[in-house]
Amino acid sequence: MSSYSIDSLEQYFKVYRKSVNKPKKFWGKIAENNFTWYQKWDKVVEFDMQKAEFVWYKNAKLNITKNCIDRHLANRGDKKAIIFEPNNPDEPSRFFTYSELYTEVSKMANVLRDQGVKKGDRVCIYLPMIPELVFTVLACARIGAIHSVIFAGFSANALSTRINDCNAKVIITADGGYRGSKTVDLKKIVDDALNKTNTIEKVLLVKRTNQEIDFKEGRDIWLQPLLEQAETTSKAEVMDAEDPLFILYTSGSTGKPKGMVHTTAGYMVYVAYTFKNVFNYKENDVYWCTADIGWITGHSYTIYGPLLNGATTVLFEGIPSYPDHSRFWNVIQKHNVNQFYTAPTAIRSLAKERIEFVQDFEMDSLKVIGSVGEPINEEAWHWYNDHVGNKRCPLVDTWWQTETGGIVISAIPFVTPTKPTYASLPLPGIRPVLMDELRNEIEGNQKLGNLCIDYPWPGIARTIWGDHQRYIDTYFSKFPGKYFSGDGALRDEVGYYRITGRVDDVIIVSGHNLGTAPIEDAINEHQTVAESAVVGFPHDIKGNALYGFVVLKEVGLWRDRNNLYKEINQLISDQIGGIAKLDKIQFVTGLPKTRSGKIMRRILRKIAEGEKSDFGDITTLVNPEIVEEISKEAL
Ligand code: WTA
Repeated sequence: MSSYSIDSLEQYFKVYRKSVNKPKKFWGKIAENNFTWYQKWDKVVEFDMQKAEFVWYKNAKLNITKNCIDRHLANRGDKKAIIFEPNNPDEPSRFFTYSELYTEVSKMANVLRDQGVKKGDRVCIYLPMIPELVFTVLACARIGAIHSVIFAGFSANALSTRINDCNAKVIITADGGYRGSKTVDLKKIVDDALNKTNTIEKVLLVKRTNQEIDFKEGRDIWLQPLLEQAETTSKAEVMDAEDPLFILYTSGSTGKPKGMVHTTAGYMVYVAYTFKNVFNYKENDVYWCTADIGWITGHSYTIYGPLLNGATTVLFEGIPSYPDHSRFWNVIQKHNVNQFYTAPTAIRSLAKERIEFVQDFEMDSLKVIGSVGEPINEEAWHWYNDHVGNKRCPLVDTWWQTETGGIVISAIPFVTPTKPTYASLPLPGIRPVLMDELRNEIEGNQKLGNLCIDYPWPGIARTIWGDHQRYIDTYFSKFPGKYFSGDGALRDEVGYYRITGRVDDVIIVSGHNLGTAPIEDAINEHQTVAESAVVGFPHDIKGNALYGFVVLKEVGLWRDRNNLYKEINQLISDQIGGIAKLDKIQFVTGLPKTRSGKIMRRILRKIAEGEKSDFGDITTLVNPEIVEEISKEAL
């Protein structure tokens, strides 16, 4: 266990040096000492950065659920694995011990097998944050099916695109879901999505809201009666280290979402190790990550990381503002949460409410607080640090991505001194580098550049489902031999990293990654629209909000602006989901374009940010006059 848990800065530097000098030995030891294997590996790692090929723990055999559940039964059988906190605070919390988790996952696994789901099949999961979501994820892993969780805020159209991309055979959903004071008609959305897909054979249904649904005989199946009859033990499928564990879609610069594929052994080792260190988890702690399991943070740090360490993890169905803005703090007090992990957008939205909402609660249990998903601005950092962490709990600003599988740059609490807005130092095994536009590595500190990583780590995604070339092109081509994150970063005088934001056409709105291309596609579907461009602009709560520049086919149609605004946002909601709606729409007569027809987004970004005159060199535009026209009328 010696290098598994890092307890001092000196040890961090020692372990870090070891991890980069002898990565094979380092990751071999961690895997050897902390997990259950059916069969050990022949080689710790084999890779080719140019071809984006990575094999970790070659030929090892395992099942991740053996490590998440079975391994704990002897000593932690009666320990709480999951604390479920429902949307409505009047509904009682529910608890599942490791033994109960074993039973629930086994039953679910047996039902899936009975329904014909086999190793390698893709199963889409479109559920609210309820215990069945965790059970189905783990049940898939148990039987070797590849889960693809789709965030339950995505629209029918977005859902069908993902189902079609991975050719899922089964989808698991619920009648409906609770979200604050609203309910979401999940089954109806699935029905709509299935009109545009033809691979789904069965829809397995969880009852949550008891609302009426359209039930299609032969295709739709209620899970509850099957679970009641199911055997309570189940055999875990023997998986190869590199068998896919899940596909999780993330937005890209171009239209189609990217199905990031994570495999079994490397992902397991990496998320377990990083969870243990980044949150300083101790045996009896209660840990809470507020992220939805529809995103990578929920996969790695609500389910897999905590369970691999035998932790108690809180699963929260609700939202921070329901029934009022004290809900987070209330839950921390109620369950004596020790580690709390959330997103800057949530912090900013709560910081603008009355301070009593947070001060009225007893949060002495907290030891570590964390931030993820977007850069945390200085003001939010201090509010979180002062009022939630009480200036006593280290605030870990964790930088990572769907593609990295787990946290890659972060302070280690009680070890790394924190600095507001800095993610700080790389975790063991991670070799960040900054690159300039000429593809040269930037040496020295106090420098800004494109953030890359120049050696693989076990949690790195293996491919994009069905499109390995796109994986190479997106992440391994711009800076050959390196993984390019798509983010910019600044390295300070002591080598701490500060993430400055995306350098591509992905915009992070309220912590959600959104590509501009699919939003523009949705806008362009409106019959009056000729073309459009979407950029981000700074927003107090969301971090970034979306600004659309829209060119209409006929000038006369401009009169009905309000209606058009609503219709365009409705289209976006239908195609992608409410999270991608535009805050501002400016109707313009043209977009600034280069001679090759490329939209100069740099200029539109400046206009959206409120810039009136300094647009840099615009002489390469075919229509430089448009810049002044657009900026004059900017919203
Ligand atoms: C951004 C979420 C600054 C970044 C885990 C990255 C961050 C993208 C941070 C990935 C952070 C995530 N500071 N920016 N601590 N964490 N990001 O795939 O731009 O949903 O590339 O993974 O979020 O988002 P994703």
